[in-house]
Amino acid sequence: MEQKLEQLAAWRAQSAAGGGERRITQQRASGKGTARERLAALLDPGTFTEIDSFVRQEPSTGAGDAPIGEGVVTGWGRIHGRPVFCYSQDFTIFGGSVGELHSRKICKVMDLAYRAGSPIVGINDSGGARIQEGVDALGAYGEIFARNARLSGVVPQISVVLGPCAGGAVYSPALTDFTFVADHVSKMFITGPQVTKAATGEDVTFEELGGAAAHSTKSGVAHFRARSESECLSMVRSLFAYLPSNNTDAPPAAEPVAPPGSPDELLSVVPTAPNKGYDVREVLRRVLDGGQLLEVHQEFALNAVVGFGRLGGQVVGVIANQPRVLAGCLDIDASDKIARFVRFCDAFNIPLITFVDVPGFLPGVAQEHRGIIRHGAKILYAYAEATVPKIAVILRKAYGGAYVAMSSRGIGSDLAFAWPTAEIAVMGPEGAAQILYKNELAHAADPTALLAERTREYRERYANPYVACARGMIDDVLDPRETRPRLIDALAALADKREDRPPKKHGNIPL
Ligand code: HXC
Repeated sequence: MEQKLEQLAAWRAQSAAGGGERRITQQRASGKGTARERLAALLDPGTFTEIDSFVRQEPSTGAGDAPIGEGVVTGWGRIHGRPVFCYSQDFTIFGGSVGELHSRKICKVMDLAYRAGSPIVGINDSGGARIQEGVDALGAYGEIFARNARLSGVVPQISVVLGPCAGGAVYSPALTDFTFVADHVSKMFITGPQVTKAATGEDVTFEELGGAAAHSTKSGVAHFRARSESECLSMVRSLFAYLPSNNTDAPPAAEPVAPPGSPDELLSVVPTAPNKGYDVREVLRRVLDGGQLLEVHQEFALNAVVGFGRLGGQVVGVIANQPRVLAGCLDIDASDKIARFVRFCDAFNIPLITFVDVPGFLPGVAQEHRGIIRHGAKILYAYAEATVPKIAVILRKAYGGAYVAMSSRGIGSDLAFAWPTAEIAVMGPEGAAQILYKNELAHAADPTALLAERTREYRERYANPYVACARGMIDDVLDPRETRPRLIDALAALADKREDRPPKKHGNIPL
């Protein structure tokens, strides 16, 4: 037995050594931790259990002294006490490249996560498809992607990109729910700078092409950006505070915490002048538990704000227009941002609270030609399809199609409240007056004064919440100070909401 135990210890030591000291030193020199160090930082201390640590190529394949482990560390642990399956690619072995066995290890933990109803976190640090394995490596990726799609909407899937993530390899993170990146470390691209230059003549660095900032601010591929690898892993843990383990589970409740400051502050946050910008996060901060919002896509499509918060201890998904940017208009990127977030929340039993202050969809040839119709439709589809409790609060402007899109009663909001400052109309008062009084204005001695007069009349008559209340489209007008208690009360009333949908294979969301 003693000899057997010595043998086991030797195997374990060999596996733990990864790609060897030289490559580990290189890994550290490039500012990166090892695969196992990263898992230790991600999970509750001491909870990681590794499996498949002795996987390696058969000597008969010609890779006789292939390092043990196949370039990926897999297993499970806990985050905030709840089980999570995970894998972490080991760049020190074959550059973390993905071959058949590497993929098999990842697929095994994905299958376990699916059966156990627990989230999966993948830490990506890889040179992509293992070149020596040719088409087998491509098939191996296919196995992972197929599982990403199968697990979607069943358990939360999180990707952390802490190294290169190149070519088709990017599609596993892209198929998961949330992608985290870290400055200086993450490099994510379909084609690298060399191929890009050959194909397009564009001369760019890795960082400019697919670094953390590029994906966090421009492409929207990354949902969260950290300044360092350790901050990145700790941000993943913060997200988990809001996530249920699977689609049949409720998100974790917490003790309610009052927001900072006095509710009176809500009386002055939103300017009554309809064209004055403000930061909608100032409203959210005064309504949500502890004033806390974990923003998703914080640096992308800044004209919309989405994220997780709590009301009375219950997790909610918050969606808001941001009047400080593009006057809060919905454009292509904001549509994608909102629709995807709504669908995540709906899949994982997280009620939706929508704060509306939107003048419309963003006009312009570029938006039309890039497909604002197709993208904007995603918001409508996502809200209409969602069966979780849906509550809207109209703060100020709610015009036209954008009003309908933002969780309106018509597309299925359970409850719609408005502040006294709300203006709900087909379009803004000035635009409406220009159309309704076109002839009169054309013949007026002073068209400017007449337009101002007609605009004022229109605003007084239609641009207030009471017209919508009279039609039952708004359930109540709230004193802004009542917003938080009324939302908490409404959420409690809707807590056991059940809504059936007709049986179908799946719908066809516009993409
Ligand atoms: C096999 C690989 C590898 C790969 C890296 N290595 N990528 N081995 N297959 N794809 C090995 C290297 O040979 C080296 O081995 C070790 O990993 C470290 O690599 P370096 O190049 O020394 O590291 P670095 O300078 O940091 O550069 C990292 C890198 C570069 C930018 C990722 O290695 C690179 O460009 N690799 C190829 C990327 C790529 O084009 N992959 C294919 C993408 S297409 P030694 O023994 O010297 O330490 C793809 C298709 C997926 O992935 C399709 C899915 C549908």
